[in-house]
Amino acid sequence: VFDVTIKSTGATFKIPGDKTVTAFLEENGVKIATSCEQGMCGTCKTRVVDGEIDHRDKRLSAAQRGEGYFLPCVSRAKGDRLVLDL
Ligand code: FES
Repeated sequence: VFDVTIKSTGATFKIPGDKTVTAFLEENGVKIATSCEQGMCGTCKTRVVDGEIDHRDKRLSAAQRGEGYFLPCVSRAKGDRLVLDL
């Protein structure tokens, strides 16, 4: 379980261990566009402004990761919190 905060609204959601970030946010009214839901296509690419990312995709380049992007259909937090640039 880790927290995801939406920067623009300040809303925070506790992501359970058995749900992806995109699925759980969508259930709670925050829609991130998805397509493959397997970390392959890049559709869900979202920027993280705070927190350490546990990257689980094979798609993003080192440069994109360096700019703070992650793929929330598969990737998670290493720590207890991520703040998304949404
Ligand atoms: Fe395809 Fe996330 S939906 S990478």
